[in-house]
Amino acid sequence: MAPFDLLEKAPLKSYSETVHGRAFTDKGLVSAATCTDCHGSHDLHAPTNLESKIYRNNIPKTCGKCHENVLKTYERSIHGKAAGAGKLETPVCTDCHGEHTIRGAKDPESSVYSTTLSVKTCGHCHAAEKITTKYRLPSDSVKTYLESYHGMANQYGVTTVANCASCHGAHNILPSSDPNSSVNERNLSKTCGKCHPNAGDQLAKGSVHLAPSPTQDRIIYYITAVYLTVIFLTIGGMLLHNGLDFLRKLRLHYLRKKTEATELRFTKVERMQHSILTLTFCVLAYTGFALKWPNAWWAFPFTLGHFNFDWRGVVHRFAAALFTLLALYHIFFLLFTERGRKQLKAFFFRKKDAKDFTQLMKYNLGKIKEKPKFQRYNYIEKMEYWALVWGSVVMIATGILMTFEDFTMRYFPKWILDVALTIHFYEAVLATLAIIVWHFYFTIFDPDHYPMNWSMKTGLITKEEERTDDDLKQNPS
Ligand code: HEC
Ligand code: HEC
Ligand code: HEC
Ligand code: HEC
Ligand code: HEC
Ligand code: HEC
Repeated sequence: MAPFDLLEKAPLKSYSETVHGRAFTDKGLVSAATCTDCHGSHDLHAPTNLESKIYRNNIPKTCGKCHENVLKTYERSIHGKAAGAGKLETPVCTDCHGEHTIRGAKDPESSVYSTTLSVKTCGHCHAAEKITTKYRLPSDSVKTYLESYHGMANQYGVTTVANCASCHGAHNILPSSDPNSSVNERNLSKTCGKCHPNAGDQLAKGSVHLAPSPTQDRIIYYITAVYLTVIFLTIGGMLLHNGLDFLRKLRLHYLRKKTEATELRFTKVERMQHSILTLTFCVLAYTGFALKWPNAWWAFPFTLGHFNFDWRGVVHRFAAALFTLLALYHIFFLLFTERGRKQLKAFFFRKKDAKDFTQLMKYNLGKIKEKPKFQRYNYIEKMEYWALVWGSVVMIATGILMTFEDFTMRYFPKWILDVALTIHFYEAVLATLAIIVWHFYFTIFDPDHYPMNWSMKTGLITKEEERTDDDLKQNPS
């Protein structure tokens, strides 16, 4: 074949591996397509010849000789109609199925396999600017799909989530405005209902291809804008606050006195709670961000092997359950143990906190010589604690809406889920940055404690670090 520069270098070999070739040789199925069914015999021509059975426009008829029902459906679809009208950029059978690579949809090597279809096959045209502008199609249908929950999970090889064809169909694709389209408003509960059996009739309230902008999917757009502002201001404020602290300590040529930690700060039960919190927080952040960025290098453990089992998601949910149990236990601890009630009391903001803040600012700016005398918990620790409480409430609430998505889809419009996912993501970003900038500063980078404040491990602090909070001091147990 080599001297003739044909498209197929080894047609017999490639054909033998296709579904037709295997059916013919392995199963002895004589009705499966062989060379002559597609190429003809006495009427055999090059694919560029208008008479050829494999000339682009003739392909549906050639395949349809055996796949009659598919052909009938295809001819009624937008692609089929466009092909009938001679539009070249519209797919015929072989654009989606390949030529000498035709395989069944369940075969992982097939071009219509769940994880290949969206990006490679439909995306080949629907992400191509030339085609989308020419036919005035949305240019971001593939991008928005990949950013959706289905798309993100699909990139990890999860085949149970929806791909383009699960919603749009394969051979019966019609514009969503067509009442017969599987993605027409009226048919959505049936289409989504294949996999979300309890989904109600509110799915049309909110788009599936989310593209937030001031004119479309506005609520998501504004929530994103608010969160980005809050993140910028909060983290910026934290950096400023801690930067001043750091500079002041440098200016004092800070030399840390090493003294033995002897005073009890945290009881064993409190340290246990902190350990579980640390563990679950890290696991949740890691597995959560890995869903958002499936192609990031650090997400590689979840892409190893093709188990078709979303173990990233399972680990995330397991850690979330543990986190929630810890939160419930913590509430119990605060309300029903003596020590807990005292701690809770010590966590409330007082007027003194505002004074401490201005005094510490002045001190760090070098305006006064005296550092404020803090209470058992200073405003820095109180802010962190209440931020954690707020963050936990938000993450648990949005997490529950998403874990029980069938319930949510039944009783709420679809956009509620989009809102939950958006908030869940940005709150996680805020929390993670806050931990790094705020918590890690005071426990690790602060020259007072560098390289590490071990009080959450030992439970102890030094005598001079111990701060009074009168009733707590009298009874530290
Ligand atoms: C299911 C239909 C089908 C079957 C079966 C099939 N082919 Fe093809 N073949 C095609 C199509 C479609 C093309 C590509 C046309 C194009 O690229 O435009 C093609 C391309 C080729 C080419 C390259 C043609 C060129 O001009 O570059 C050769 C050679 C070829 N096939 C030989 C074979 C042989 C030999 C067999 C049997 C062992 C076979 N084909 C079986 C559909 C088929
Ligand atoms: C827009 C892309 C696309 C086009 C064009 C297309 N198909 Fe398909 N086809 C698919 C997808 C996707 C599946 C898998 C569907 C599934 O998983 O349920 C499929 C499945 C099939 C199947 C196996 C399942 C079934 O429904 O029996 C056959 C046979 C088939 N196609 C033949 C054809 C023929 C013949 C044509 C041309 C008339 C054609 N296809 C055109 C995308 C396409
Ligand atoms: C001579 C008849 C014939 C022609 C022509 C033919 N096919 Fe097939 N095709 C079959 C048969 C029979 C099977 C079932 C094979 C089996 O059961 O393993 C099949 C299977 C398939 C499958 C896999 C279906 C599944 O459920 O896994 C796809 C996809 C497919 N054909 C696409 C095409 C395309 C695209 C063309 C045109 C390029 C084509 N066929 C031309 C007879 C034909
Ligand atoms: C070979 C390129 C090509 C491939 C592959 C392709 N499409 Fe298309 N598709 C088009 C073109 C071109 C149109 C517009 C046809 C027209 O308007 O006449 C279109 C139209 C559509 C429409 C209707 C859009 C509208 O607003 O009218 C949907 C939905 C669609 N395609 C989904 C899919 C899906 C899902 C797949 C994969 C299973 C797919 N397409 C594969 C080229 C392609
Ligand atoms: C979860 C179901 C679902 C999945 C998966 C999905 N779509 Fe859609 N698609 C829809 C719905 C519903 C609409 C109607 C507009 C909307 O709600 O955003 C739509 C609209 C479209 C449109 C605009 C034309 C029209 O008919 O309104 C195109 C083009 C399109 N989708 C292509 C794709 C492609 C390509 C993929 C895969 C990369 C894909 N879709 C994945 C449900 C889905
Ligand atoms: C092919 C099956 C399938 C189809 C069709 C399908 N989905 Fe899904 N969808 C899934 C699976 C599987 C999940 C993941 C569930 C999980 O991990 O808990 C999911 C998750 C979701 C989520 C995310 C829930 C969360 O945890 O945030 C939303 C929202 C959603 N689907 C909406 C839809 C809508 C709307 C449609 C119809 C336009 C649809 N789905 C069609 C299989 C499907």
